[in-house]
Amino acid sequence: MSLTRTIQIGICGFGTVGQGVWKHLERARPELEARLGAKLVLARAAVRDLRKKRDVKIPAAKLTADPLAIATDPKIDIVCELMGGTGLARQVTLAALSAGKIVVSANKALICAHGAEIFATARKHGGHFFFEASVAGGIPLIKALREGLVANRFPLIYGILNGTCNYILTQMEERNAPYAEVLAAAKSLGYAEADESLDVDGWDTAHKASVLTWLAHGLWVKTDRMLVEGISRITPADFKNAATLGYGIKLLAVITRDFAANELSVRIQPTLLPEGNVLANVNGVFNAISVTGDVVGTTLYIGRGAGQDATASAVISDIADAVALLSHGKGAHHMGDVVPAAGTSPRLAPPERIRGRYYVRLSVKDQPGVLARVASVMARHHVSIASVIQNPAEQDGAASLVLTTHESDERAIRATLKNLARLPSVLEPPVLLRIGDFGN
Ligand code: NAP
Ligand code: HSE
Repeated sequence: MSLTRTIQIGICGFGTVGQGVWKHLERARPELEARLGAKLVLARAAVRDLRKKRDVKIPAAKLTADPLAIATDPKIDIVCELMGGTGLARQVTLAALSAGKIVVSANKALICAHGAEIFATARKHGGHFFFEASVAGGIPLIKALREGLVANRFPLIYGILNGTCNYILTQMEERNAPYAEVLAAAKSLGYAEADESLDVDGWDTAHKASVLTWLAHGLWVKTDRMLVEGISRITPADFKNAATLGYGIKLLAVITRDFAANELSVRIQPTLLPEGNVLANVNGVFNAISVTGDVVGTTLYIGRGAGQDATASAVISDIADAVALLSHGKGAHHMGDVVPAAGTSPRLAPPERIRGRYYVRLSVKDQPGVLARVASVMARHHVSIASVIQNPAEQDGAASLVLTTHESDERAIRATLKNLARLPSVLEPPVLLRIGDFGN
């Protein structure tokens, strides 16, 4: 087969993901070229430190410390932004799009912060922005939402979107492993962000939820409009308590839309999931997302959510789309941007409209009357107790109280927690987990 066109690819960022893309693209090149009818050239890569030793070797002449030079190089057709961050990454992305190039990105933080500007720039200059690797690693979730499920509206999307957190939670649950040790392992496996607090404090999940919310509902929701909680206060005792109650613990993104009220909510929360829920059994670096569409019903997606190979797989799928678009004028971009019909853009639901059941763990003085005082605070806020477990705490004279509640709402539970924390018999800030009643 004759290759009609040569496509030059530049890679900005040659770390975990960038090297994976280079390695796997080199290996898959003959098959991809035959399928796409174009010659693919890995032309240049940009790094911060030209002297750093790397597992994937490339000719020194192809390396630069200036990513903007790749973004503006007239010979380069496709720019992969695989550096991370929202400063230089934004400049590189906008420069390449302004030059009419296709940008492929794995950078969910950037999309969450500057998505509207990025897509507007692409539209204005005839560039294109592809971002399959930005959510759920190797799972083709963006394509599923954008193409496969295009007939649907989405009342509920929830899932495990951060591989690092799922890896940490799994190791804590299965091996009782110390948090710091497991986090260090997640970093060395290439799962964690350069700033790991993005993972463990829930922000990376929030960035991904923002991308999914835009795809599903056509609305950019920034992280300051979401409820975002991380996993750093979860202890092995929480796993034991959850198991006693018949649950596992997962960090979930939950995106709900009430079409009748035209309200949307986006929450990132460690959640007790019933042991029978498929997602409760998705472990390690794997992600899993349940997407309920009003036409299709519930669909489930499971796969590796982080790491070099899974992420490279997603980036290369975008590169293939970009090559098809450049060579033949076809590809995923034909689905267009998500635009809600006039007047249907949803409002964010206020806390009193977000209902659920809760798990509250309190470290309290082991004294008469403490449980009664805790129950009284909950009753004052109309939060009804469903069950109580009392365990000895690590400190002398202290006990761990675990309460689950009947259905309440976010406003009531937050007020309850605030007042519980003020009780002299409560020794530490309470730990709050949601109970996930998703019905599947
Ligand atoms: P990484 O290993 O830290 O690699 C970042 C690369 O960017 C490095 O090669 C670094 O150069 C280069 N870089 C950073 N700042 C630069 C600058 N100012 N000028 C030139 N080069 C610069 O990160 P990663 O894990 O590959 O992640 C890259 C992106 O993919 C991030 O947006 C991340 O959120 C996203 N992502 C990662 C994964 C994953 O599993 N790791 C999965 C999905 C998405 P040096 O090597 O010289 O330091
Ligand atoms: N740090 C991210 C995670 C990388 O652990 O999920 C994949 O987006």
